[in-house]
Amino acid sequence: MKRIFDIHSHILPAVDDGSPDMETSIRLLKEEVSEGVTDIILTPHYRLDMFLTPATTVQKVFNEFESEVAKNDIKVNLYLGQELHYAKEMLPLIKEKKALTLNGTNYILLEFSWHIKPENPSQIIKEFIDNGIIPIVVHYERFPYKTIDDIVEMKKVGALFQVNAYSLMGVEREERMFFAEDMLKNGLIDFISADYHKGKRLELTNAYNKVVSLVGEKTADKLFYLNAKDILKR
Ligand SMILES: [Fe+2]
Repeated sequence: MKRIFDIHSHILPAVDDGSPDMETSIRLLKEEVSEGVTDIILTPHYRLDMFLTPATTVQKVFNEFESEVAKNDIKVNLYLGQELHYAKEMLPLIKEKKALTLNGTNYILLEFSWHIKPENPSQIIKEFIDNGIIPIVVHYERFPYKTIDDIVEMKKVGALFQVNAYSLMGVEREERMFFAEDMLKNGLIDFISADYHKGKRLELTNAYNKVVSLVGEKTADKLFYLNAKDILKR
């Protein structure tokens, strides 16, 4: 049964490049709900050289958004997190609670550099794990330096992987779609999410149907809902 728990989204108003104002945010959320989203983690960018909205501000905007969602009578469970762009400083920032985990758990969304391959990605993952933080690496399929071998190595030391729904639908480059399909068929994806920003495409329903046809409904339900539900329990 299609149910969607979206763990990666940029629809909080005016905290990053996702949505400029409350009205847009409510519209984007309604679009998510119309695709079957029952639960969503709001994960604005946190990036030291670019997006620096402090966690206290993000929390305040989240509270305002929550009451606006209630006023609009939108039936959806909201949670808060951030998408953390990798830097050496990120681990101490998490410990100081200046960078947010997913809903206060020990899971984080971790984004690697777009153009420069991290020198030793497995070592980076291991350092987080050794400090009790479990990285969910976001949309690795979009990076030019990606290899399946690197993903396997990172998974060996405990990383989880989130793929964007629109990557799987070939909305961006076709090679990213083929790579995402390879990840799927090799059991290397843990979550499929929208990474929704204003002006991007959601593609959740299309991606769900595609996953059902490629690897079956049981796996689709894990990647779109059950695995996410699971991490919030911890
Ligand atoms: Fe994102």
